[in-house]
Amino acid sequence: MRGRNLLAEPAIEFRNLKKSYPVGNDSTIEAVKDISLKVRAKELVSLLGPSGSGKSTILAMVAGLTSPTGGEVRVNGDRVEGPRPKEITIVFQEPNLLPWRRADQNVRYGLELRGGDLKVMDGLVEKYLNLVGLQGFEKYYPSQLSGGMAQRVALARALALETGIMLLDEPFGALDENTRSMLGDELLQIKSITEKTMLFVTHSIEEALHLSDRVLILSGRPARVKDDIRINLETPRTVELRCSPEFQEYKVRIWQSLKDELNENITEPVANR
Ligand SMILES: Nc1ncnc2c1ncn2[C@@H]1O[C@H](COP(=O)(O)OP(=O)(O)OP(=O)(O)O)[C@@H](O)[C@H]1O
Ligand SMILES: [Mg+2]
Repeated sequence: MRGRNLLAEPAIEFRNLKKSYPVGNDSTIEAVKDISLKVRAKELVSLLGPSGSGKSTILAMVAGLTSPTGGEVRVNGDRVEGPRPKEITIVFQEPNLLPWRRADQNVRYGLELRGGDLKVMDGLVEKYLNLVGLQGFEKYYPSQLSGGMAQRVALARALALETGIMLLDEPFGALDENTRSMLGDELLQIKSITEKTMLFVTHSIEEALHLSDRVLILSGRPARVKDDIRINLETPRTVELRCSPEFQEYKVRIWQSLKDELNENITEPVANR
């Protein structure tokens, strides 16, 4: 649309978003139920919710990897109808690196798929491997990297595409607590440099509070937004801040909202009529 002010548009908007999956021939499972909300440009919004509540499904709909069965997702003002690789990248819990490619070649992979100038690609690979702290490890193969280093490569691979929106589905979930916390600090630094909008799925209240401008608490399946909590804590969220009474108060509040959902019994698929 001509003359549209993109900055005025929410980066991501859910309008009455719904998703049911078919199970077998005669039943469906309702994963997401009627979510409406807006995520502003440059916000980092975490999704916290029980296992199986629909968090990955929500990200998949934003990424255009699966279609809603009701409502819509809009990205930068446009309805999502399929993948939008120029605007959105996604990082998963597993780094999914190609084992026969070195770290730099893995980062280059996404750029190669997109095509373009080879020199520009090399510049982007170097820039983002440095940004995730992997200078010196460019020529290592995935089997020669630790779990944290492999996830840094996956992060660099996504960052190199320079999209405005990054979706992160438990990106540090497989890492030990200390590495996870360090990568959280680094993600925030990267975010402040690259000014991305981020949707971040996690099971950790601590991690959500460490990173987020807003935390969405999702109900048990089907996912609804039970609570939408703005985190008014200064950044960066240092270890000292994370030990402060204000931080702990947020933790208690989020836990109280989440715990009932964790207790919810898992509902059975519903037979189609
Ligand atoms: N492709 C699919 N086909 C059928 N059902 C699916 C499919 N993908 C997800 N589901 C169902 O949708 C529900 C939500 O799944 P989803 O993976 O979105 O949950 P989640 O919140 O990401 O869980 P976790 O925290 O364990 O990763 C689950 O009941 C799951 O079984
Ligand atoms: Mg998931």
